[in-house]
Amino acid sequence: MHHFHYKQDELYCEEIPVSEVVREVGTPLYLYSHATLRQHFRAFDDSFSGLKHLTCFSMKSNPNLAILRLFANEGGGVDIVSGGELFRALKAGVNPGKIVYSGVGKTGEDLEFALKSDILLFNVESTQEMSKLNDTAAKLGRKARVAIRINPDVDPKTHPYISTGLRENKFGIDIRQAPGQYALAAGMANLVVSGVSCHIGSQLTQISPFVDALKKLKELIVDLKKTGTRIEYLDLGGGLGITYDREEPPHPREYGQAIREELGDTPLTLIFEPGRVIMGNAGILVTRVLYTKTTEGKTFIIVDAAMNDLMRPCLYNSYHRIQPVKISNRPLVVADIVGPICESADFLAKAREVQTYQPGELMAVMSAGAYGFSMSSNYNSRPRAAEVMVKSDRFFVIRNRETFEDLTRGEAIPDFLTMPSP
Ligand SMILES: Cc1ncc(COP(=O)(O)O)c(C=O)c1O
Repeated sequence: MHHFHYKQDELYCEEIPVSEVVREVGTPLYLYSHATLRQHFRAFDDSFSGLKHLTCFSMKSNPNLAILRLFANEGGGVDIVSGGELFRALKAGVNPGKIVYSGVGKTGEDLEFALKSDILLFNVESTQEMSKLNDTAAKLGRKARVAIRINPDVDPKTHPYISTGLRENKFGIDIRQAPGQYALAAGMANLVVSGVSCHIGSQLTQISPFVDALKKLKELIVDLKKTGTRIEYLDLGGGLGITYDREEPPHPREYGQAIREELGDTPLTLIFEPGRVIMGNAGILVTRVLYTKTTEGKTFIIVDAAMNDLMRPCLYNSYHRIQPVKISNRPLVVADIVGPICESADFLAKAREVQTYQPGELMAVMSAGAYGFSMSSNYNSRPRAAEVMVKSDRFFVIRNRETFEDLTRGEAIPDFLTMPSP
């Protein structure tokens, strides 16, 4: 469910024609619907009502301050993976007591920052990280609440690049080694063993891998209890998929039901780290057609958004629906939608049947709210797109389009490279 819809032939975001936003802000442009974001957050969070739980938005999917503030106002926390994300979260007003920190390569500086911020939970992913966290906490005279991120060796049945819970993946600690690692953590004076965590992958379209992982974690928690380790938090990560094309992922309600059935009455506080399921269909990328050309047997529609703006198609060969901002009754054409970047991987859609476009017309790349702007770059020295949030019949620029000056910020030319005199 989202709030991008047509009135007559015009694409609207909530109560505003997309073309009206473009007139003021230009393209390429990320457009997010406030009502959709709030509705998705609530639908997810409500799926666990009655259970002690915390919804920690996975901000890697979209770290814009306005978006973080929206979810913080809804009572949510965040899942972070870097010091930079922690900085953003605090700046947006997220309660540090609702922040969980995952990631295989947390630096000493980032651990220190998170300890000083008194975050809720460190999801540690290796023995060495555990020691470093303990040492850093000791140095600061603090205690760190930890969960061990478990690699349960469960196949999430998703794209290999976003599978994280298989033994071959770099993430977490092998579940067979977990009891030993918990014993080790329990012996570290500045760690407080508090949780078990796991995140098996992203864009999951079936419930069974989540349940398989949960079964394994439950067994582990029982075993840990026998050795006197008290677990308070069970962090089940994110991963619930969305419809990009024809996928039929479970509704968060069904996911919630499956978790309830598996856990029964539980004293644990559950933590969830949803990203895509909340953000994905709440945002679109709007782009303008620059040119069209037909070569031998092939039509290209060249637009002003590129792989630097939306990396998912080139990285995962992923599908995004392409919709016109104004529907025309011109004939359909099968075309590749491509950007201006000097790479053949620079495409937004391939062999797609779309309406015939003229230069200057607008196109919407749907389901681009998650891992869209957050993965964007300045490749080819392209300023990054603007981001706008629509609320009802008003819109707000929540990130200005970058300027050429922004592109060179922080760069310096050393003295020995003085300009040769003419
Ligand atoms: C540790 C962790 N938690 C949560 C997420 C969010 O996943 P998703 O956006 O699929 O919900 C990710 C994404 O890969 C992750 O690595």
